[in-house]
Amino acid sequence: MEQEVQSVTMPRIGDNAPDFEAVTTKGKIKLSEYAKDKWIVLFSHPADFTPVCTTEMSGFATRKAEFEALNTELIGLSIDSIHAHLAWVNNVKKNTGVYFDFPIIADIDMKVSKLYGMLQPNESETAAVRAVFFIDPKKKIRLIMYYPLNVGRNMDEILRVLEALQVSDANGVALPLNWKKGDRVIVPPPKNLDEMQERIDGDYPEKIDFYLVKKDL
Ligand code: BEZ
Repeated sequence: MEQEVQSVTMPRIGDNAPDFEAVTTKGKIKLSEYAKDKWIVLFSHPADFTPVCTTEMSGFATRKAEFEALNTELIGLSIDSIHAHLAWVNNVKKNTGVYFDFPIIADIDMKVSKLYGMLQPNESETAAVRAVFFIDPKKKIRLIMYYPLNVGRNMDEILRVLEALQVSDANGVALPLNWKKGDRVIVPPPKNLDEMQERIDGDYPEKIDFYLVKKDL
């Protein structure tokens, strides 16, 4: 089957988050001036008034306090008008009691979606895929997820990786497979012979060999 192959610039992990100004359900936002000293989770959904998106947005809304506890602000986005966003927010609140109490970008001109590689034309030409950008307080992109239209994301995983990034930054450690809060963390692998000897001789609760050593925080 013919595939559209376009050369587009996609943001990558470690890049500065591309700046933008956008209209949202909470007023205008300029990313570079938004949520100073906080983390931002910027996520897109394909369309308002669709089932998977409704479950996902409700997931973000009901767990907003957990994001706040991690010093994190949420920003949603889809290629819908502000009127559609308002009607959808109101409809979900009326039907389920869940209120999407965070800004949702009305990216009707696709400016932000294109800037963040959320438009992936072989999946959909008109809707953003399910992207999640984890942006740190220095406005650097630290982790990116892309999901297709038909598969919803996992809120536990979104919160897990957000916490993992913060624990890694705060403690200079790495996190193993399936790490969750309270689990042991990985001491960074040695970069010289002295560090290697320290890993070999050190009193650590878990050690496979000098290159895989775990400690408690
Ligand atoms: C949904 O959210 O259910 C959905 C949206 C766009 C395409 C397919 C599914």
